[in-house]
Amino acid sequence: MTMPTVELHLHLEGTLEPELIYALAERNGIDLPYDGIEDLRSRYSFTGLQSFLDLYYANMVVLRTEEDFADLTRAYLDRARRAGVRHAEVFLDIQAHTARGVPAAVALGGVTGVLATSEADHGITSGLIITFLRHLPAEDARTALEEVLALGFPVLGVGLCSSEVGPAAPFKDTFDLAHARGLHRVAHAGEEGPAANVREVLDVLGVERVDHGIRALEDDALVDRLVAERVPLTLCPLSNLRLQVVDSLADYPLVGMLERGLVVTVNSDDPAYFGGYVDDNVRELTRLLGLTPDQLATLARNGVEAAFVDDARRAELT
Ligand code: ADE
Ligand code: ZN
Repeated sequence: MTMPTVELHLHLEGTLEPELIYALAERNGIDLPYDGIEDLRSRYSFTGLQSFLDLYYANMVVLRTEEDFADLTRAYLDRARRAGVRHAEVFLDIQAHTARGVPAAVALGGVTGVLATSEADHGITSGLIITFLRHLPAEDARTALEEVLALGFPVLGVGLCSSEVGPAAPFKDTFDLAHARGLHRVAHAGEEGPAANVREVLDVLGVERVDHGIRALEDDALVDRLVAERVPLTLCPLSNLRLQVVDSLADYPLVGMLERGLVVTVNSDDPAYFGGYVDDNVRELTRLLGLTPDQLATLARNGVEAAFVDDARRAELT
């Protein structure tokens, strides 16, 4: 079976496993408001995106030091290697840390220090995408980007995530600045929000990939455009199931999307919270949808096409 080897939609903070949350809390002397690991895990049952985000942001309290961010990144890469990942582009919600008083340099230093040696240590090439939080004022995103640029840590791109409420247009100047500085652009859209949100991030933010984008299926003309322009959609099946974006994985529209020629990829989003890493996502879909070797090979090829890598690395991954 040809498994996808590229992961393009992964929030580092969404890889915080309950065991690591408790280990970091102990190291940092933080009292958690849960009755232990099993109690925390029992809360991983969500009614929608916001109910997940509330717990996801709350658990970030344990990330305080550069070492914490490094340990988080290393734990993800260890698990991703076991999943067969050879290239990963990972998201970091920098504002969720600076808003808690953690300096951007601490978070970025910890993450980028580990990513710098990911190929040597884990056999995974990697890049960092700074994701701005859509529920915060757009001026905060601009300030965050300026700070990240001034600090000079290696960054591959920018993204937009969090609750899919309000227009994306206010983030245009931040995305324009990122583009002018040579950064790639992606955005979450069409997860809980409508197909119009996918159009908006393409037209206004100039994104090269759409994160989720599953609700683009509600707009035929948009699907035609995504196919014609080969805009990748980074799908996250277990996430969609756990956040009730879809009712069941047995009805997941992946095969229809492949047949229409959409450049879809399979990813894990926040694997610690949604019950599986990228290999688990692919295995579940394969089991429930009966994906063929050809379809799996197309998914793998799509991931390589959608990755922000140079031709030499693309050839190696192919
Ligand atoms: N941040 C982390 N996971 C997310 C998701 N699935 N959608 C939007 N923002 C997120
Ligand atoms: Zn996401």
